[in-house]
Amino acid sequence: SKGTYDSYMLKEIDEQPAVLRRISEYYYSSEQDKLAPQLLDDLQKADRLYIVAAGTSYHAGLVARQLFEELADIPVEVQLASEFGYHMPKLSAHPFFIFLSQSGETADSRQVLDQVRHLNYPTLTITNVINSTLAREAEYSLPLCAGPEVAVASTKAYIAQIAVQAILAQKLGLRKKIAAASELDVAQQLGLAANAIQTIVDQKDYLEQLSHDYFAQQNAAFFIGRGNGYAVAIEAALKLKEVSYVHAEGFAAGELKHGTIALIEEQTPVVAFILEQSTAAHTRSNVKEVLSRGAHTLIISKQSLAQEGDQLVVADLDERLMPLVAIVPAQLFAYYTAVERGNDVDQPRNLAKSVTVE
Ligand code: M6R
Repeated sequence: SKGTYDSYMLKEIDEQPAVLRRISEYYYSSEQDKLAPQLLDDLQKADRLYIVAAGTSYHAGLVARQLFEELADIPVEVQLASEFGYHMPKLSAHPFFIFLSQSGETADSRQVLDQVRHLNYPTLTITNVINSTLAREAEYSLPLCAGPEVAVASTKAYIAQIAVQAILAQKLGLRKKIAAASELDVAQQLGLAANAIQTIVDQKDYLEQLSHDYFAQQNAAFFIGRGNGYAVAIEAALKLKEVSYVHAEGFAAGELKHGTIALIEEQTPVVAFILEQSTAAHTRSNVKEVLSRGAHTLIISKQSLAQEGDQLVVADLDERLMPLVAIVPAQLFAYYTAVERGNDVDQPRNLAKSVTVE
């Protein structure tokens, strides 16, 4: 139930620290390893991972790519289920397929799973619903442990998908003796992320005020970032679109000058994510460019890269895991903007929780 909450969406945003703790507990502190040795064997034999998903789950896949590539030293392609099914790329010699799906019922993903099962490739579903169709039909399945997600807008499942894939990537990397895997303490990072998210959800009044000042009266908003900041930007834009009905787009910060900057007008909101050392200066110069064209800029930076004047500073994690924390303010922007505009936040117009048609 919603308990004392007005909406499931806000309740589910607030549950995120507990979700990360539950995932750690489930995957780390049990007698029996939750990752079947056979699953790790099959992953180890693969020469490429194909992560197949839709919507927010696809965005979580984009974040996971770097985790698998760096921690487990394996190339990764992240594919939209609705495209992949009809335009299958040339596959590697030994592909391994990961289906990411909160509901486990997304028709686009089911269609791809059917196809690759007929080709006899190994498949894993990572889902929040352990008895769902995708979980039953894949060779392996792993739970997200996020608890039921009722609001149409996916929030806690997104961070759960990143966390579970981080754990999987690291365990695979340890088995393959990849140095990067032994250098990262994922369990500790998830604990830090839980605390950092708590700090953000404890600033609701401020986030509500920012939502009012930046988005509530606008027709359009832009989110920019590089690397993981770009992955977060497109998820942030999707959240704002689907519950607040503000037209929003996420862009790679470096692409702005290649066209999109033409859309910047007086007071257009532009949210920039500054989450990685190597690109922070470039993204800040993109912020200056839009500022000088009248944009209403909002900077979300991580502590070690923060500068005076940044509107929101979030705690540092390993850079590969920053999306766990950086997405949370954007989830709250979507929520408060929707509330101010009088929308039904849990059941946005035209949308269903699971999309069971192709
Ligand atoms: O259940 P799934 O994760 O397979 O669903 C995929 C998308 O339909 C879903 O993430 C959708 O984009 C959400 N409404 C986004 O908040």
